[in-house]
Amino acid sequence: MKLQGKKILICISGGIAAYKINYLIRDFIKKGAEVQVLMTPSAEQFVSKLTLSTLSKNPVYSDFYSENGTWNNHVKLALWADVILMAPCTANTLSKMVHGMCDNLVLATYMSAKCPVFIAPAMDLDMYQHPSTKLNLELAEDFGHHLIPAEDGELASGLSGVGRMAEPETISQIIEDFFNSNRNLEGKTVLITAGPTYEAIDPVRFIGNHSSGKMGFSLAEEAANRGAKVIMISGPSSEKTNHQNIEVHRVTSAKEMFAKVFEYYENADIAIASAAVADYAPKEIAQEKIKKNDDSLTIELVKNPDILKTMGERKTKQFLVGFALETQNEEENAKGKLQKKNLDMIVLNSLRDEGAGFKGTTNKIKILTKSTITEFPLKSKEHVAKDILNFVEDQILK
Ligand code: C5P
Repeated sequence: MKLQGKKILICISGGIAAYKINYLIRDFIKKGAEVQVLMTPSAEQFVSKLTLSTLSKNPVYSDFYSENGTWNNHVKLALWADVILMAPCTANTLSKMVHGMCDNLVLATYMSAKCPVFIAPAMDLDMYQHPSTKLNLELAEDFGHHLIPAEDGELASGLSGVGRMAEPETISQIIEDFFNSNRNLEGKTVLITAGPTYEAIDPVRFIGNHSSGKMGFSLAEEAANRGAKVIMISGPSSEKTNHQNIEVHRVTSAKEMFAKVFEYYENADIAIASAAVADYAPKEIAQEKIKKNDDSLTIELVKNPDILKTMGERKTKQFLVGFALETQNEEENAKGKLQKKNLDMIVLNSLRDEGAGFKGTTNKIKILTKSTITEFPLKSKEHVAKDILNFVEDQILK
């Protein structure tokens, strides 16, 4: 059974979609899960405790105290769960969750939990579109919670739009996928460089590039989802992550990136250099802002340290992955870098391919090892990250 032995705590808040939770519980139980249900006081108006407890085969609580005078221990309930599913999650409960309010059993249990939390919002379309709901959903995602977006359709108000809770089958599938996800990198430490570097010219100017850092952050998220401990060394990038398995170190210049990388390299099992490191930096950084007095300006540049090449030279146990962004003789150049930098594999993207490269949200890659070349179609960077890590896993686990 697909959810055998998994402990799922469902927290129902007061929305009409609460009736659908009956079907969801039945589905979870059929798949072998253990289910406990909590409800907010207002949810009791929408669905019967008797139905929920009969289906879940467990008592259902909505208050800190039961009628027989026993205390419903929210901490114990929270620690029991492998996942908590807030469904349906009303605008009110969502808002209380992200602002630390704790005036009922559901919220106290949520705040005591250490396990992953899934949120399936359900509300009328205008409430779902309201800036405060949007902000609260963003906050919930920033906390690392998993959002199961509301769907488009007919709403209880008679209006039609986005706000319906996702269907029970969809929610069930998402939870199942979560438990069956690949944990092949558990116990491994993955070091990732990401983003551009900025090389200062004077106190206000720098030499940089268009790298967004998105590829590196997608790799970090994917590796962390597969159980790895991830050390991210990122140049200036607006990307962020709140994944608890990812430790982010922000740096500015290539020299700073070099220093940070080698604080962590020795203990890394896999190192992926996706940063677009500037090859040269100004020889001297002007102390004051350079004035535009002359018609031309010459800045002498000196070579930056090659971080990846040094990783190759100092390689012991690390599986080393480089990136190559090329505009001509792509495969030949990538192969040359693979050898020169002592890499185990190199990810090639060509600026001649539309949608590829370091600026946008998609990428088109080829992966080269000493003896193979594998080509992939154009995909989102999240999917490219999966392809790259599948490839790494195949190489290190074979
Ligand atoms: O030689 P080239 O700069 O094209 O190689 C690209 C690869 O080397 C990328 O993986 C990049 O992160 C890495 N690199 C580095 N330090 C540098 C230059 C490039 O780690 N100074």
